[in-house]
Amino acid sequence: MDAEAYDRWYETPYGRWVGQREVALLLEELAPRPGETVLDVGCGTGFFTRALAAATGGPVTGVDLDTDWLAYARRRSAAGVTYEAADARSLPYGPASFDLVVSITALCFIEEERAAVGELLRVARRRVAIGLLNRRSLLWLQKGRRGGRNGYRGARWHTVREAAGLLAGLHAGRTRVRTALHLPGGGRLARAMDRLWPRWLHTGAFILLVADLPGAAAASSGGDE
Ligand SMILES: C[S@@+](CC[C@H](N)C(=O)[O-])C[C@H]1O[C@@H](n2cnc3c(N)ncnc32)[C@H](O)[C@@H]1O
Repeated sequence: MDAEAYDRWYETPYGRWVGQREVALLLEELAPRPGETVLDVGCGTGFFTRALAAATGGPVTGVDLDTDWLAYARRRSAAGVTYEAADARSLPYGPASFDLVVSITALCFIEEERAAVGELLRVARRRVAIGLLNRRSLLWLQKGRRGGRNGYRGARWHTVREAAGLLAGLHAGRTRVRTALHLPGGGRLARAMDRLWPRWLHTGAFILLVADLPGAAAASSGGDE
């Protein structure tokens, strides 16, 4: 799929809902502080990179393997956002280079996902947030089975337990999982239910796995959780 077609999906009624919901959950859990540095790994067309830049006002870097998508992301982003070609499995940054590190629905396309998770944790100083797709969701039944349809083709879907397991044995500090997008469709019912759904019922199609790096929890402000 070309970058423009991918990004245009976020402007369809359904795509807008998905994008807004995922960004809202990401920002709620990331709780960025003004001026913090952010790295977005597997940034694609920069949809989340742009949202992060708008939320933090600080320097945001997006990395991806796809240079065409990076070129598109560069054209669409404001000053203060930098894009670089890099592999999530071997990031070209030193330890603790960024306050916050995110990766949204990119690890589902990376075979060596544990290596990538290790890299996200290595280059982060305060918090890491990883977006994945939930195999125990209605969206999986609709779009994920038999290799996946459209943009989901080839994606690996995780259970919440599998997602949490990606951090097991790593130097991840305090961790938690949230999910969103419980009912597909994005209509009024889906929007309402997403707000009312019990947090412990992890049936949302979008999994957000969050790690507060060791030492970061003590330094967090009260708004974090
Ligand atoms: C489904 S797109 C997600 C893009 C963006 N994060 C979003 O949610 O709109 C997955 C992205 O992961 C990137 N990707 C796949 N393998 C990668 C790797 N090893 N290192 C960096 N990026 C990778 C792809 O090029 C693609 O842009």
